[in-house]
Amino acid sequence: MAHSLRFKFILFILAILLVLLILLNTYPIISSRDAVFQEKRNSLSGQASVVSSALGSLERLSHDGVSDVFRFLDLSSFDRIIVVDEIGNVVYDDGSDPPDLSDLRTALEGHSVFRSVFANAAFSSSVSVPIGTQTALIGAVSLFENDTERAGIILSIQQRIAVLSVAIGSFALLLALLFSWLTLRRLSALTRSMNTVAGGDYTYRHVVSGNDELSELAHEFNALTEQLELNETQRRRFVSDASHELKTPLASIRLLSDSILQADQMDTDTMREFVSDIRTEAGRLQRTTEKLLDLSRLDDSVHVVPEPVDLKQITLDALSALSPLARDRHVQLSSELDDGCVIMGSPDDMAHVIFNLAENAIKYNVPDGSVTIRLHQDSETVNLSVEDTGIGIPEEDQLNIFTRFYRVDKARSRASGGSGLGLSIVHDAVIAHGGSIRVGNNKPQGSVFIVSLPRPSLEEIGI
Ligand SMILES: Nc1ncnc2c1ncn2[C@@H]1O[C@H](COP(=O)(O)OP(=O)(O)OP(=O)(O)O)[C@@H](O)[C@H]1O
Ligand SMILES: [Mg+2]
Repeated sequence: MAHSLRFKFILFILAILLVLLILLNTYPIISSRDAVFQEKRNSLSGQASVVSSALGSLERLSHDGVSDVFRFLDLSSFDRIIVVDEIGNVVYDDGSDPPDLSDLRTALEGHSVFRSVFANAAFSSSVSVPIGTQTALIGAVSLFENDTERAGIILSIQQRIAVLSVAIGSFALLLALLFSWLTLRRLSALTRSMNTVAGGDYTYRHVVSGNDELSELAHEFNALTEQLELNETQRRRFVSDASHELKTPLASIRLLSDSILQADQMDTDTMREFVSDIRTEAGRLQRTTEKLLDLSRLDDSVHVVPEPVDLKQITLDALSALSPLARDRHVQLSSELDDGCVIMGSPDDMAHVIFNLAENAIKYNVPDGSVTIRLHQDSETVNLSVEDTGIGIPEEDQLNIFTRFYRVDKARSRASGGSGLGLSIVHDAVIAHGGSIRVGNNKPQGSVFIVSLPRPSLEEIGI
């Protein structure tokens, strides 16, 4: 993967470099060459018209006549001059090669011809113009010029640009190679770290360097690994806690049944007592597994389609279900429930939330204590509070009580049949409904649990 990425990156840089260097090597040269052509056209045409009008003063063109006229003109800048008479015979030519008369023929038809080429380190230019007296066309003249000086300047600029291009190209390529090497090295390191974590080492952390998008990616990866590590720790703890919770009642059942089996003779009352103990333990097992199933259902986020839930009705149902327990424990139940406290969600989940909180408030209370449940709503939320005057929860435990299997007073909780799962279910259900839950101390004694749930809009409830 890294190689192909590097290859693509270098290819991309090379393509950009190539385009830039081709432009650098052609554009300035072409435009300065065109400027020289233009300048040559102007200067040669000017000079040709001076020569042509000087020759126009002759009646007839002859070698001697033309030479005489040329003596008075400064023609040193021309390499060759050819003059033809009106029928195209060469009357004057100071060159030695056989002349090409095609431009002169065009000039004899009355048109001027200008040519200039940049070749062999020189600008070779020529201009051919007609020669006329006031009344008639008597011939034509061609002026040739070979400018090596300007061509030399342009060629030397071209050479310098070429040298500069090689230097710029090599430098840019070197930088690109260095950049791709540095970047891909970091990418490879990140891939190695990912492989390590994928292999199961969740304690591994990638060493982040720099402060760019790659570092951001590395930070995100570390955060993900941290989350994985946390999940893994929680999973292990949960499995070990759950096994432990199931092991204790199972061991008791085994012990009790062994006692019954091994006793030669056992009176009916003792036997009934043992069987009743077995029943209690089995009941505990059943409650724990039911709660575990509730939790796993909440974990899987398999949610029923939300429906309007009237929390007042659910609270009244929970209170009536719990009133025998409250009577048993000599705990006074009271409530202040506003009408219209409706949320969108699952009625079963909400029944669990209110039942568990109210049950705890009664179970962890003191004789002649009291429990007050309040339900009211404001513009944004529906709020439920469960206050008790019971034994309270120490501050250091308040952070943990929503953790699975966590109990403050293990002996007391277990004795009352608690599995330590009730508040985890409450917490998960409230979060799944988009709400929040917190716990505090009640004055002068006891605890208070406050649940806030988002209040749905009227359309959501279907009013
Ligand atoms: N109102 C309360 N007052 C004092 N302590 C409480 C109160 N509610 C919960 N606790 C403490 O928090 C622990 C966790 O409560 P949770 O409801 O999760 O478990 P449980 O009541 O022990 O068992 P379960 O509810 O599963 O039958 C309890 O064991 C208890 O120590
Ligand atoms: Mg409980």
